[in-house]
Amino acid sequence: MTSPHIPSVAVIGLGSIGGIVAGSLAAAGRCNLTLCVRRAIARLDVERPEDRIDVPVRALTDPAEAEPADWVLIATKAQQTASAAPWLARLCGPGTRVATLQNGIGHEARLAPFVAGAAVVPTVVYFNGERFAPDHMRFRRAGDYELAVADDENGRAFAGLMAGTPMRILLSGEFPTLVWKKLLINAVANPVTALTLQRQGVFRRADVRELCLGVLEEAAAVARAEGAPLAADVPRRTMDVLATHPADAGTSMYFDRLAGNALEIEALTGQIVAAAERHGIAVPLNRALLTLLRVVSDAAEA
Ligand SMILES: NC(=O)c1ccc[n+]([C@@H]2O[C@H](COP(=O)([O-])OP(=O)(O)OC[C@H]3O[C@@H](n4cnc5c(N)ncnc54)[C@H](OP(=O)(O)O)[C@@H]3O)[C@@H](O)[C@H]2O)c1
Repeated sequence: MTSPHIPSVAVIGLGSIGGIVAGSLAAAGRCNLTLCVRRAIARLDVERPEDRIDVPVRALTDPAEAEPADWVLIATKAQQTASAAPWLARLCGPGTRVATLQNGIGHEARLAPFVAGAAVVPTVVYFNGERFAPDHMRFRRAGDYELAVADDENGRAFAGLMAGTPMRILLSGEFPTLVWKKLLINAVANPVTALTLQRQGVFRRADVRELCLGVLEEAAAVARAEGAPLAADVPRRTMDVLATHPADAGTSMYFDRLAGNALEIEALTGQIVAAAERHGIAVPLNRALLTLLRVVSDAAEA
């Protein structure tokens, strides 16, 4: 009898999301895990809804030490993807699958130059992560599933990889629509909190809700042109969901602005505006948000 193949998994980007997934994979003990980090860590301490784990991990800080892996999970911010090129060059071999645990759309195109033809497996991330220290994160559930993937061979392989962890994986036959629905939330939640420097309580204001509905009507028209059949009431329902979020909840773009970091704007509003241009759809509100946030992000990078 042959023993089952134990997959090798590398995680690039040990922030809130990458740290939680890596810690959960390490605790499940079903793969050979390597963490690709800029500052060495020896353990991961993850507060989870049902328990708290503290697991030893193997972390590399030099891409030259990395070897081809069965799976690469990339959980940097989207704008940091290119900076991970040295890791991807070492980790991607002929059979590698690269899963993107990132917000936004356009991940396949963004990763293609760096993965040497490896399959890119986009995911939608639904759970909430917060990092308190390089080796300490808190995982909060935010819906019925933690991650969604397409119901295809690669998506099912990803779900298999996550078996034994607390991550609930949605295999979806309508994955592009899920991607756009998540993008719609991010198209208002992130820009508005980052620009106003207010937490999500700001969405309870009638004037902000009206502005956001306009932003979402534009984005939904783009989504439909891209082949995601969003219902007419999706903008209203998106705002209804935002209104249920705790008033003191931030967003990652809000926290990045507070920290003076570059913003993940090109993968979110930037992709909506780019797709609108392809289809000849006017999106003046999204364009205005994009311009303002580019100014903020460029100033942070200067
Ligand atoms: N946090 C959430 O609740 C949440 C929810 C849904 C989706 N998302 C999405 O998930 C993605 C990850 O978000 P996050 O909140 O986990 O971000 P994060 O906390 O900022 O983590 C990003 C991590 O990537 C690392 N990194 C960046 N460039 C790197 C490089 N070249 N080599 C190695 N490591 C590198 C950073 O390292 P350093 O520590 O060295 O800076 C950091 O640890 C984003 O697309 C975000 O929008 C987040």
